[in-house]
Amino acid sequence: MFTIGLAKTFYLWLGTVASFSARSTPTTSSSLDNGANTPSKPNFVFIITDDQDLHLASLDYMPLVQKHLGDQGTFYRRHYCTIAICCPSRVSLLTGKAAHNTNVTDVSPPYGGYPKFISQGLNDKYLPVWLQEAGYNTYYTGKLMNGHSTTTYNNPFPAGWNGTDFLIDPGTYLYWNATFQRNTSPPSSFPDDYSTDLVNDKALAFLDDAVKSSDSKPFFVGIAPIAPHAVTKSSVFTPPDPAPRHQDLFPDLKAPKTINFNPEEPSGASWIFNLERLNDTVIEYHDHWYRTRIQSLQAVDELVDNVVNYLSEKDLLDNTYIIYTSDNGFHIGQHRLQPGKTCAFEEDINVPFYIRGPGIKAGRVVDLVTTHTDIVPTLFDLAGIELRDDFDGKPIPVSGSKISEAEKKNGSWSEHVNVEFWGVGIEEGKFGVRGQNNTYKALRISGDQYNIMYSVWCTNEHELYDMTTDPGQLNNLARPSSNQTQLLNRPISVVQSRLDALLLVLKTCKASTCTDPWSVLHPQGDVTSLEQALSETYDGFYEEQPKVSYSKCELGQILSSEGPLAGNVYNGSAMWPNWV
Ligand SMILES: *[C@@H]1O[C@H](CO)[C@@H](O)[C@H](O)[C@H]1NC(C)=O
Ligand SMILES: *[C@@H]1O[C@H](CO)[C@@H](O)[C@H](O)[C@H]1NC(C)=O
Ligand SMILES: *[C@@H]1O[C@H](CO)[C@@H](O)[C@H](O)[C@H]1NC(C)=O
Ligand SMILES: *[C@@H]1O[C@H](CO)[C@@H](O)[C@H](O)[C@H]1NC(C)=O
Ligand SMILES: *[C@@H]1O[C@H](CO)[C@@H](O)[C@H](O)[C@H]1NC(C)=O
Ligand SMILES: *[C@@H]1O[C@H](CO)[C@@H](O)[C@H](O)[C@H]1NC(C)=O
Ligand SMILES: *[C@@H]1O[C@H](CO)[C@@H](O)[C@H](O)[C@H]1NC(C)=O
Ligand SMILES: *[C@@H]1O[C@H](CO)[C@@H](O)[C@H](O)[C@H]1NC(C)=O
Repeated sequence: MFTIGLAKTFYLWLGTVASFSARSTPTTSSSLDNGANTPSKPNFVFIITDDQDLHLASLDYMPLVQKHLGDQGTFYRRHYCTIAICCPSRVSLLTGKAAHNTNVTDVSPPYGGYPKFISQGLNDKYLPVWLQEAGYNTYYTGKLMNGHSTTTYNNPFPAGWNGTDFLIDPGTYLYWNATFQRNTSPPSSFPDDYSTDLVNDKALAFLDDAVKSSDSKPFFVGIAPIAPHAVTKSSVFTPPDPAPRHQDLFPDLKAPKTINFNPEEPSGASWIFNLERLNDTVIEYHDHWYRTRIQSLQAVDELVDNVVNYLSEKDLLDNTYIIYTSDNGFHIGQHRLQPGKTCAFEEDINVPFYIRGPGIKAGRVVDLVTTHTDIVPTLFDLAGIELRDDFDGKPIPVSGSKISEAEKKNGSWSEHVNVEFWGVGIEEGKFGVRGQNNTYKALRISGDQYNIMYSVWCTNEHELYDMTTDPGQLNNLARPSSNQTQLLNRPISVVQSRLDALLLVLKTCKASTCTDPWSVLHPQGDVTSLEQALSETYDGFYEEQPKVSYSKCELGQILSSEGPLAGNVYNGSAMWPNWV
């Protein structure tokens, strides 16, 4: 007893010294393990919500997120997930890889879920493992991914963590009586506590462990509350439960009637085009659903406040990056859809992304196009860890000068996002339909002079939206009956030929070909943007390019059903169009 008591006192004392020297000031070195003159690495607090929209104004009802992260940090308003469903998106985020490279493409086996994450060998190749190797202590509480459950949680345990308290299935999406599983202990249920408040308490306790740890290492703390996800029991989705203290807030709030809400004319492709208009009964149900989402996010807003206040009290804000995002977005009534995600519409893929920390400008809003696969490379960059050469993303410029540099290159810094999906559409709530073929490849491209979405479905239908003139994505220029013939001063078919060729590269891209896809088509390096590719010089080349297509709608990534996998390479005007 005596020995333990002594040791504890010693560690506490050491921890205090360490947190002063190693954690508070980025420029001071820790003599304990880093050696002299090595600047200490920054800490990370990573907060990820579940199904939080950017386009349905949810952030407008989170004043504390706005105060701590918006006013004190930088907001990336063109940040995208690359697959609009929880588990695959989280795996892409944690590995820095597109879903076509993780092949975790669904929420449950055989194509996804935690067992697929394990069988793909990713438990050794993801963020916490790498951060520990780089000298971090790592902690996580909340939802890791779907299929991480009472039967799979220890088969094996997720690698790379010093402390964990996970929400696991089938109790992940219960705001009351959620199932948590701590470190290597068996799962337990919490019937009397509100899920987000439990995540809040566990997160603060892990932060405290991290700060007081005896070894003076920097830390990563992941915090993953389930709000504003639907309550989900046996695949039935019902509106989220707010905390009792928030359930009477915003009594008159209604789902935003965006420009594309319940449109008079059908829109989209495939099964979405055939949806009926929503009647008043359904719209009222949607309004209620929306209100409960906003109410359920209030506990997250408080969590963010508590986390920031804790870091402030410990004097750690100067050496800690706080990131806030969501796994994917959400729609309610857009394109006549029931509540849900899984689509490539802007509401589902353009998600909140804030970062605050040392060197990051307060109150800045950035237009650079960034994605979830960029987040791990960004953390590597900030922690001074050498980038892995198999990342499909690249570090996001976050410091003031790096942002300006990237902005100067605007278009050519990055203007594309590759979005993909395999499986079925899931409409949530009591009016939703299930099981529609929802396998597609999509491309978002957002340059200085254009703003476009293009997609090819497993039914071989196409979508093409000019989001400069049609931000609601209501007028599909790729429909044979489209009334518009020109886009960017070229015939639609010419623009589509470029987008399709880019999508063909992106759907099988790996590492640098994901971040620099034009270099596959134009290895000579003279084309780095859509604008340049639109030159008439290349009309013949793009006309002859094999097209993205499918032979069948599959539920997973079955390459034999995904048409051509590679295209032609442009190697000089003299070679084309005569060269085949
Ligand atoms: C965290 O885990 C790593 C890897 O097992 C270990 O080296 C490190 O000492 C742990 N940190 C603490 C504070 O226990
Ligand atoms: C809470 O969940 C556990 C595990 O699913 C279950 O056994 C228990 O009956 C539930 N308790 C309540 C009060 O619902
Ligand atoms: C409204 O639409 C829903 C879903 O299609 C349907 O179940 C319901 O009967 C409709 N209500 C009215 C009043 O038409
Ligand atoms: C981006 O590039 C265009 C030229 O393509 C230029 O006109 C514009 O000023 C640039 N924007 C910024 C923010 O540098
Ligand atoms: C084409 O039709 C859409 C509505 O379907 C309309 O908004 C648009 O203005 C029309 N464009 C032209 C060029 O007529
Ligand atoms: C989905 O696609 C498959 C294969 O292409 C087809 O057999 C099936 O009928 C489609 N299902 C629906 C609901 O359209
Ligand atoms: C992805 O996983 C599925 C299920 O195991 C498998 O059938 C498919 O071949 C895999 N695709 C690729 C490209 O590895
Ligand atoms: C152009 O590409 C073709 C096919 O990849 C190759 O055979 C040919 O040598 C290339 N020509 C030049 C000049 O690189």
